[in-house]
Amino acid sequence: MVNHLKTALLMMSVLLVACATPTKTPISLYEEIGGQPTIEAITDNFIDEISFNKDIYRYFEKTNITRFREKFIEHLCVDTGGPCTYTGDTMLKVHQGQKITETDFNLTVDLLVNAMKKAGLTYVQQNRVLKVLAPMRGEMLYK
Ligand code: HEM
Repeated sequence: MVNHLKTALLMMSVLLVACATPTKTPISLYEEIGGQPTIEAITDNFIDEISFNKDIYRYFEKTNITRFREKFIEHLCVDTGGPCTYTGDTMLKVHQGQKITETDFNLTVDLLVNAMKKAGLTYVQQNRVLKVLAPMRGEMLYK
């Protein structure tokens, strides 16, 4: 009888522990890198990088940088799983007519990597961002 009680108590405690353990919801890349302040830091670093690179800056000569900053922040927020809504134009529409070459696309990605590094992202986190952006490449090149 005592043994039965012991077994019952043991089972109850196992159940209690199982119920009390919170189920882990995986955090988004957005949260992992530090949320909105980090997204803004990456964007500001990226704008700096672009402004110092004459091959890439030439594409942005007539751009309203305030708008670019706002829309890029929204885009990056959504790309990393953050709680934002992108209100800009499609990647196709925005980059159409710019005739972006593969070399310049790759160079821009390098500038973005510098921007992410300066914002403190690890190598793995940088690659997770690039993995999300990679499929958009086709909407931008030679259009
Ligand atoms: C890495 C992938 C890229 C992403 C995610 C991206 C994203 C964006 C976003 C969100 C905007 C603002 C859209 C809006 O105003 O509605 C934008 C604008 C722009 N992007 Fe990109 N872009 C990328 C690559 C490039 C490259 C490779 C170039 C050129 C070398 C470029 C040149 C521009 C220019 C010039 C504008 C401003 C267009 C204007 O003045 O209206 N982008 N991009």
